This record gives sequence, C-alpha cells and structure tokens, in this order.
Amino acid sequence: MANSIKPAALAALLLCCAFTLAVQAQAAAIPVPPPPMGWSSWNSFSNTVDSQVVMNQAKAVAANGMQKAGYQYINIDEGWWLGQRDAEGNIVVDAKAWPPIAEGEQPGDMGNIVRYIHGLGLKAGIYTDAGADGCSTVGPDLGPSYPRTGSEGHYEQDFLQFAKWGFDYVKVDWCGGDKENLDPAIQYAEIARAIAHTEAITGHRLYFSICNWGKHSPWTWAPNIGGVTADVWRTGGDIVAPIVAGTKNADRKASFKEVLREFDQAQHPEAQHSGFYNDPDMMVVGMPGLTNQESRAHMSLWAISGGPLLVGADLTRLSATDLATLTNPDVLRIDQDSLGLQCVKVAEPAAGLEVWAKPLTTIGERAVLLLNRSASPGAISVAWRDLGLSDGSSVTVRDAWTGKDLGEFASAYSATVPAGDAVLLFALGSEGATTAYFPEQLKAAPASGQTLALGRDKQLTFAHVASRFPIARIRITYTNPDKTARFAELRVNGRIATRIAFPQTGGDGATGTLSIESPMETGGAKNILAFSVSGDPGPVLQSISLQ
Ligand code: GLA
Repeated sequence: MANSIKPAALAALLLCCAFTLAVQAQAAAIPVPPPPMGWSSWNSFSNTVDSQVVMNQAKAVAANGMQKAGYQYINIDEGWWLGQRDAEGNIVVDAKAWPPIAEGEQPGDMGNIVRYIHGLGLKAGIYTDAGADGCSTVGPDLGPSYPRTGSEGHYEQDFLQFAKWGFDYVKVDWCGGDKENLDPAIQYAEIARAIAHTEAITGHRLYFSICNWGKHSPWTWAPNIGGVTADVWRTGGDIVAPIVAGTKNADRKASFKEVLREFDQAQHPEAQHSGFYNDPDMMVVGMPGLTNQESRAHMSLWAISGGPLLVGADLTRLSATDLATLTNPDVLRIDQDSLGLQCVKVAEPAAGLEVWAKPLTTIGERAVLLLNRSASPGAISVAWRDLGLSDGSSVTVRDAWTGKDLGEFASAYSATVPAGDAVLLFALGSEGATTAYFPEQLKAAPASGQTLALGRDKQLTFAHVASRFPIARIRITYTNPDKTARFAELRVNGRIATRIAFPQTGGDGATGTLSIESPMETGGAKNILAFSVSGDPGPVLQSISLQ
C-alpha cells in the first residue's frame, strides 16, 4: 500500500499518522513473565543425578537464601532415565535411584521427587530429547552410554507423563534429533503441540525449554512454531565442556572465555520479548575455573541479557562470595525486569571496549554494562544520547553491585574497567522524545478512542516509520481485556515474523504498552511494521511509538 501512495497523499498521511511526543502519552507498561531462575543438575552432576542429589540441592536452595531471592526451579537434567520403557511404552526409571521419599510412595515413581520439591515451595524440571536417543550415546558421560533416552515416537505419552508426575518445566535436548538429521523447527513444533495437548488434558502447563544449541537459528522459529510458543531456547553449545573419559566431574572447569562466547551467541533482541527468552546456557558461577571477579562479570552479563538464571554449581559447596554474587537483589532486578527485553550494544568506543544497555520498566531507567574484553584496563564512556535518554537533563548513576550512588552526570559517564571485567550500572534520567504512529488502515487521524482490532485475516500496518537507532525499542499501545494473552505476529520490513504475546491489560478497555526491540533502517522514515493476528481474537492495537 505504501508504494502506491502519491507524494501529496503521502505527506497528508504522514501528517495524520505520526506525532512526535515530547512527553510520552503514558499507558502503563504491562509486565511480562520474567526469565526462569533456578538450579540445574547437569554442570556439576552430569549423569550421576539421583533422588539424593536433587533433595540435597533443593534443600540448599530453600535454606541458603536463593529461594528467597527468586530461584525456584530445581531442574533434573540428563541421567535420570536409562532408556527403559514397559510394554505400553511408558517410561520406566531405576527404582534405586528414585526411591520413595515419604510414606506410602512407590519406588521408581518420579512423582516422589516432585512432591519433595513442591513441599519446599519450589518447582520441578525434567529433561528429554527430541530424537530417539539422548546425549548419552554422543557425549562422553560419567558411566555407561545408554541409548533410547529420547521421546521421539512418544511425544504425547511422555509429556503427559511429565505433567502427571507434577513437573512444571521440561528441557528438550537435540542429540538424538541431530543424529537422525531431523529438522528442529518441525520436531519442536510437534513437541509444542504435545505440550499444549497435555495442558488441555491435565490443566497443568509445562514451561518449555528448547536445547538445540542454536542450530537452525531457533530465535527465528521458537517463538512461533505452528501457533504454539516455546518459552526459552538455547542459542549456543555448552558453556562448559563435557567431562572426558578418565577425568572426574569435579575436574570440569569453567572459563570466562566460554562465558563470553555464550553471551555473544545469545544476542537476538528481536526475539526476546513478551515473555520469550534467548538462553545463553546454565551458569557456571560457583564451579571451579572462574575468579570471583569473573563470576561477578558472568552474572552481570546474564542479568543484562535478561537470560534464564539456572545455576549449575553444587549448591552444598557454594562459597559465601558466590552466594552473594547469585543473590544480589539489584542485579537480579535487572535480569527479572518486567519489560522482558534483552540488552543491545549501543557503543564500542575502541576494540574490546563495549557499552551494552537494557531498558528497564521504570520510565527513564536503563541498566548499563561497560565491558572490557581487552587485556589491559580501559576507560569506557556511556553517552545518554546512545541510551535514548534526554540530553537536556542530568542522569543519576548508581553502581548495581554495591548500590553506591555515583552522582549526577550531564551528558555521559565514564569509568575505568579492569581487563576482562565489567561494570554494571543503573542510569536514571528522562526519556528522549518519541514519535507515535497509527495504523495505515485508519486512513486519517484517529478520532478520540478510535482503534482497530486485529481479527481473523486482518493485518495492521504502520508505515513510514523512522528510527534513530539501528535496533529500536518499539512501544506498542494496545488493549486486551482477557485473562490470558492474545497473540499477533509482527513482520518488520518483510523479515521473518516474530510472535508476540499481549498480556491482559485489565477490564473496561484499559490500555497498556508492551515493548519489543527490532532492527530498523535509520535515516528517513523507511520502515514498515505489519501486524497480523494469530489466534482469534487478536489484541486491539492503538499505536506504536519509538525514538
Ligand atoms: C547437551 C546439552 C546440555 C546437557 C547435556 C546432557 O549437551 O546442551 O545442556 O543437557 O546435553 O547430556
């Protein structure tokens, strides 16, 4: 449509459909589900995981302050099942590894450990593979290799079983799928449907974590597989190498280089929104290999990325310093911020010296990471303009780790960052002016209260959209009176669509805003954003605005 408009009409349209707002019209930012926090067995226990290990770790989370800080999932990774099924194809587990815990329980019932975890007020996670085999036949694990630990051919049966046992979370690996040369987008869509089927039967929702190490770019399809959505998806390989034959699990050493690699591979801000997250892998804080300073930098990277915080250490042996690193409330606030956005690299003043920023829910607030990847200390400066904050007023800067108020600064803040380290800050100022755009389908300036609802077969287009930033934050103002999310797909400049979940905005036609990020053309009003419904009804979209 945009191409067929004559210049005069175009000018009129631009006039009617774009308004620069010095002070943003504020509908409340609607909170989205935060990234998961918890513990996972793999990094420290490999396939030696059993009931006793899990009970000890769950007890530690409940007692050491992690649960209070927000860690809630206790995730059992590979090694819990050795591939046996009964004549009906039901999973059979080793009764010695998973014995009764409370009176009246049966040996070999995974519901035992789930009840124990739930009894502590925590949630339980389980693991399988999308293929016929799991990873045991591929990687060098502790102990023998056991085939057929995948769910292929049993998707509905296995996910129903996980839900019946009471699990809340499922991680689905890709070793078997990879070995069989399967297409991950197809297999994980089947699994998403099996999970939806399970929910329809049991009323119990399994949080769905895809683990295919970034193969076939899951950030392009995981938020939208056959109208079903994965919650988190891994973006790269394992953060710590698997143990090799002849070594002990305790010899598994983390390195900051691998931490940085996982962080870099996780950066897909256009896919991380409305409650869906890029997963840079389980954390290695508290494992052998990192210095205290590197552990803090690792935590800063995961927090500003808004990544899942799944701790891979043995929590019964955590040092007080590592515990403090994992539970700093201000740093956790950055990770769990209810806008649910990822950081974006906003400047690279010199090779290896980088500025990353993540918009936070409080108006005018950003988390800022000054990252020094180089081998010598470096001064790194962050300019308010690059953060989308107003140049006109001074900005208050606070150290996220210590809470120390560092003062008010007129246009930029600079710090010397040690080699291989990072400084994590809060910057609080005023938002820069935004421009609002209205759907082209309105044809004229909207009358007061006039909106367009996305319904079946409808598409709403915002054209001639200008952006100051190559990756822009787009605020979408909408209404959804339902108790659950409504969905729409967004295609920016004809690129692959991303599925957006619009949470409830409240009754009585209340409006809210949801923020997403997207690569945009800068220099001229060149961008086209096309929303289409997925599921009926869609949200009622009113406007979008960006800087
Ligand atoms: C893969 C995954 C890991 C872990 C192991 C288990 O390597 O990426 O996170 O689950 O399998 O074997």
